[in-house]
Amino acid sequence: MTASAVLSGTDLAEEILDLKRHRRAILLAHHYQDAEIQELADFVGDSLELARKAKDAHGDVIAFCGVWFMAETAKLLNPSRVVIVPDKDASCSLVDGCPVEPIREYRRRNPDHTIVGYINTSIEVKAECDILCTSRNAVAVVNSIPADRTVLFLPDRNLGNYVQKETGRENMKIWQGSCIVHNTFPVRRLLDAKALYPDAVVVAHPECPLDVLRHSDFIGSTSAIIDYCAARPFGDYIVMTESGVQFSLERVAPAARFHYVANDNCNCSECPFMRLNTLEKLRDALIDLEPRVEISADLLARALPPLERMLAIR
Ligand code: 13P
Ligand code: SF4
Repeated sequence: MTASAVLSGTDLAEEILDLKRHRRAILLAHHYQDAEIQELADFVGDSLELARKAKDAHGDVIAFCGVWFMAETAKLLNPSRVVIVPDKDASCSLVDGCPVEPIREYRRRNPDHTIVGYINTSIEVKAECDILCTSRNAVAVVNSIPADRTVLFLPDRNLGNYVQKETGRENMKIWQGSCIVHNTFPVRRLLDAKALYPDAVVVAHPECPLDVLRHSDFIGSTSAIIDYCAARPFGDYIVMTESGVQFSLERVAPAARFHYVANDNCNCSECPFMRLNTLEKLRDALIDLEPRVEISADLLARALPPLERMLAIR
């Protein structure tokens, strides 16, 4: 199919829906995508939910509107599907801050340690891990490891500190990576927002620094935050995560008021990697079936077991 054949006489959203049908594609979107992308998606979720959806996806193509490591996870779990991402540069500061060589070296030096890798890692790093986790199941994953084993948790130091606090685990080393969005939410701005909305409930993603989490009423993954607000759909909320969650929050709790705290990095609360994906790029990706995720057979064989170990934990 040529681009011009697809483009004639339809608006962009309709073109994408037509292409989706033509390509037998499922459109998966993370909560941090622009609302116009989420509106077209077959499923919107957090990283764990998206991995499970990708695993069960039928059709020929998974159009993954999220960041690259999430699309790699989808390909790992459903390798016979073509997996595309609208923008190949949609990375993640946690991935970029955790190269594989030092992890291989750590493994060589500490063969008896258990390496727990956050899903926000490259496929090469995943292949060196014993088990993976997401923000939703990190506490359960670490609790599943025998108490006498030393754990290396990588790469997010804030999630690692949070998990260590929740599990009470002492023999746990933590890689010092961070998210450029959540790690730069300053507690000073949260306290200002609390002064402005004294009755507000603070909901936070565990990638936020511990001093922010200390002032939070609920801590959880993006979907866990949305579910929490859906169960109490009224009053004021201060939201300490990426503002893309607004799309679902307004849907599940239309009478509640949500206040977003800007970070010190962009003076906003948007992930610059996630926001690289646009409707235009999604349309082009469905036409070209590029940028496409490819994983070598060797990496697939080594990265899948730690991912499956995680999925076995409910
Ligand atoms: P979730 O697992 O909550 O979707 O988080 C992914 C992420 O990248 C948070 O910044
Ligand atoms: Fe990575 Fe942070 Fe963006 Fe999530 S919000 S994808 S952790 S940079």
